[in-house]
Amino acid sequence: MELAPSILTADFTRLGEQVEAAFKAGIRWLHLDVMDGRFVPNISVGPLVAQALRPLADRYGAIIEAHLMIVEPERYLAEFAEAGCDRITVHQEVSPHLHRTVQEIKALGKLAGVAINPATPVGTLEAILPELDLILVMTVNPGFGGQSLIPACLEKVRALRTALDARGLSQVALQVDGGVNRQTIGACRDAGATVAVVGSAVYNPERPVAAAVAELRAALGDA
Ligand code: DX5
Ligand code: ZN
Repeated sequence: MELAPSILTADFTRLGEQVEAAFKAGIRWLHLDVMDGRFVPNISVGPLVAQALRPLADRYGAIIEAHLMIVEPERYLAEFAEAGCDRITVHQEVSPHLHRTVQEIKALGKLAGVAINPATPVGTLEAILPELDLILVMTVNPGFGGQSLIPACLEKVRALRTALDARGLSQVALQVDGGVNRQTIGACRDAGATVAVVGSAVYNPERPVAAAVAELRAALGDA
C-alpha cells in the first residue's frame, strides 16, 4: 500500500522541510488538498504551492497529486497541470460532464482521478471506470484534516475493489482519504485500497515525520 501524505496539516512556515522529510522517509506521492471554500467550507492552497514544490519533488522522483475540492474544477485543470501536478483528481459531485473532464485531464498529459464523498454511491462511477487512473474514496466529509474515518466508507472501497478486479482494471489506483492512521490503515488495505492519503497521521506536532511514516509502515507490516 502506497502512502500519500497530505500537506493540509503540515507546518506551512517550513513546508519545504516538511515535504522533504517525507521524501527522505521514502514517500514518493504527495497529496495536495485544494479547497475553494464553496465545495467544502475550508480554503487551502492553489497551483502556486504545486509550482513551489515541483523542483523538490523532481529531486526525489516523486509525484504531486492535486485533489480538487472545488466547484467547476474544469476551470483549473490546465493551471494545475502547468504548475507541475502529475495527477489531478476531481469530485464526481461537481462534475456534471465527468467523462469530458477526465478526457481533458488526460489531454493535458496527466493521470485522471475521480473522488466520491461519503454519501455518493460507487455506482456513479460505473460507466467511467475504464477511463480512470485513480479513484479516491473519501473516508471523511471533505474540508478538514484530523477527522475520524467513517467505517461505512470501507464498504465502498470493497465494492470498488471487486468491480475493478472483475473488469480487469486492477491497475487503477484505489485511494482512501481522511482519518487514515495507524489504527485504521490496516482495515483500509484489507478493504482493497492501494493508496492511503495520510494527513494528520504524518503531519502533527506529536512526532517527527520520519517516525510517523515508520509507524504507518509498521501498522501495515511493511516495517
Ligand atoms: C480532507 C482531505 C484529506 C485530509 C486528510 O478534506 O481531503 O486529504 O487532509 O487528513 P487526515 O489524514 O488528517 O484525515
Ligand atoms: Zn485529500
